[in-house]
Amino acid sequence: MSAPSFDTRDPTLPDFWTERFERAFTPWDRGGVPQQLQAFAAQSTPGTVLIPGCGTGYEVACPAAAGWDVTAIDFSEAAVETARQALGPLAQRVVQADFFEFAPPRPVDVIYERAFLCALPPRMRDAVAARWAALLPPGGLLAGFFFFGDAPKGPPFGIAQAELDALLLPHFERLADEPVPDSLPVFAGKERWQVWRRRAV
Ligand SMILES: C[S@@+](CC[C@H](N)C(=O)[O-])C[C@H]1O[C@@H](n2cnc3c(N)ncnc32)[C@H](O)[C@@H]1O
Repeated sequence: MSAPSFDTRDPTLPDFWTERFERAFTPWDRGGVPQQLQAFAAQSTPGTVLIPGCGTGYEVACPAAAGWDVTAIDFSEAAVETARQALGPLAQRVVQADFFEFAPPRPVDVIYERAFLCALPPRMRDAVAARWAALLPPGGLLAGFFFFGDAPKGPPFGIAQAELDALLLPHFERLADEPVPDSLPVFAGKERWQVWRRRAV
């Protein structure tokens, strides 16, 4: 995601992302549904799923079609507008909200992660993990794509598996860890599909 030239530099602020959506600089945007999300949505018992930092929201339709009750949030107005336009009858599933403040309307069974943790600078990781843990009840799943790497500049900000373990193991146990067959170039060879289950408190 090496940016050409932008006015905004702080990815913790909505304007950073809005500027990139408005200028169509979105190298993280798959514009389709990853194979492992499709399989997960089809094979798991449907429940409620929260998608933090949904961007243009292409993930929403897949679990919804499999019977999931989907809520997708993003704090960028441009992202929310784009997602709602693309989603038609599912538009109201997308809510403009800050992940760290959002109170889900219903208990959450699954949080879907893709390019949200790695969108934020490393200093935010403790807060993200704590929020994931607070939102999921025991047995709830954190499922999605985790970006690994050690380049100091981002986004995307890669993490080391040992650091991810240190963040998550106090709250979760890892159930799955697989390579990703259909990565975008920006993530290729550096992301893995993982599923983490919330431990009993
Ligand atoms: C790299 S993009 C990924 C978008 C989408 N998940 C995808 O895979 O295409 C990161 C997204 O997270 C959103 N975001 C960052 N911080 C956020 C926050 N605190 N609350 C809600 N959304 C946030 C940004 O607006 C942006 O749309």
